[in-house]
Amino acid sequence: MSRATAAPDRRRYIDPAEFTPQFAWRRSLKPGGQEVWCEGVPLSRLADSFGTPSYVYSRAAIENAFHELDKGLGRLPHTLCFAVKSNGNLSILKLLRNLGSGFDVVSGGELEHLGHLGVPGESIVFSGVGKTREEIRLALRYRGRGQAGQRGILLFNVESQAELEVLLEESSKHRRDERPGVSIRVNPDVIAGGHPHISTGHHRHKFGLDWAAARGLYRQHGPSKWIKWSGISAHIGSQITSLRPFEQALGRLAGYVRELRELGIVLRYVDFGGGLGVRYTDQKPPSRRDYARMVARMVKPLGMHLLLEPGRTIIAPAGILLTRVIYSKKNRDKTFVVVDSAMNDLLRPALYGAVHPITRVTRAAGQSGRGEPVDIVGPVCETGDSFLHDWPLGAAKAREVLAIWTAGAYGMSQASNYNARCRPAEILVEGKRARTIRRREGKKDLLRGDSLA
Ligand code: LLP
Repeated sequence: MSRATAAPDRRRYIDPAEFTPQFAWRRSLKPGGQEVWCEGVPLSRLADSFGTPSYVYSRAAIENAFHELDKGLGRLPHTLCFAVKSNGNLSILKLLRNLGSGFDVVSGGELEHLGHLGVPGESIVFSGVGKTREEIRLALRYRGRGQAGQRGILLFNVESQAELEVLLEESSKHRRDERPGVSIRVNPDVIAGGHPHISTGHHRHKFGLDWAAARGLYRQHGPSKWIKWSGISAHIGSQITSLRPFEQALGRLAGYVRELRELGIVLRYVDFGGGLGVRYTDQKPPSRRDYARMVARMVKPLGMHLLLEPGRTIIAPAGILLTRVIYSKKNRDKTFVVVDSAMNDLLRPALYGAVHPITRVTRAAGQSGRGEPVDIVGPVCETGDSFLHDWPLGAAKAREVLAIWTAGAYGMSQASNYNARCRPAEILVEGKRARTIRRREGKKDLLRGDSLA
């Protein structure tokens, strides 16, 4: 996925409008030019009405991505559990909920957001290597707002013996008919993932348990008064651009499921995590449909209910970060374009060396929008606050609007207030309509938690 942005190189200009549905160059409302539209709204108009920096999401892109995965799985019993960590905006979660999505959470905070939306527990799985006792309690008692009946969630993906012991202690305080469904996250020991920080499925990574340890726990707690073994889970990494590691890991999981059956432990759910990569620049990830079909083909013989936890593939291409040029400057032979968004708004370039292409959102008819190489940087006081080096955008004028592409996943959810910067607004476009789904933060938000000692 990425090359260190610190190493200057001559990048090929890539225009993601060519491969990002719902964001396209079309005729400008002003005569003679072209502009990038998100569905039925020109991005330049969004910048004028909502200000910058702002994340802009296309509802149709989210829906299409969800349906592609869903349809690809065909008649295999399945639930797609959107990974809330990739984008936790309430309106986006609600939209996905209305499409029939379940959810994967990794903290009590994410779970409470779902509770606020009234998401039923039976569509929530809880992953994470360090669930605290309080978070486990919260999940055991979980009930979506306005819901009566059974408490709890669908599945705890347990990652250690110590966590299982806490879960047993806590669930023993509940009624037996509220026994939680539990799976062990196994580490299938495959190498996958676009960057060392987001690869998770190898035995040297902190995630999951290796098979011998997991099998031991399944056996030890075979019939238990306080939990029911209902699944097995794995998540091997993120931004994976080949089907091979997925196939390899699924093959191993299928073997584990069969071993457990021989021991008399029959599970209902196989949770295969997320991880399907997207195209940022020149990556060639498999299509959602091919990925889903492969997973369905391998899971079908097991006769189990499949859970998937997709994040990036659904929401990354559905979002861009809209920004404006503040200044351009030259240092010897280098041109810097300083924009009003920064590493606090979109951390991926600084953290992973991730390359998010940047384009103008308007151009004269017949022009490509390319020019001499420039560095596009944010205003934060760190050299690492740089989006692209030697990117052939050409000199840009103050107040020009630019789009930072494929930023819908792990963009806003990783944003911070570093340098006392307010986090951006989030806008959802639905056809010709655009609405704020999170207001831009203001000065008061920055000092909200501080007290003068
Ligand atoms: N399930 C589990 C247990 C996970 O840990 C993750 C992501 C997912 C599902 C969703 O994976 P996805 O489909 O989005 O690849 N901040 C990094 C990505 C970290 C991913 C962590 N786990 C980035 O910006 O690339």
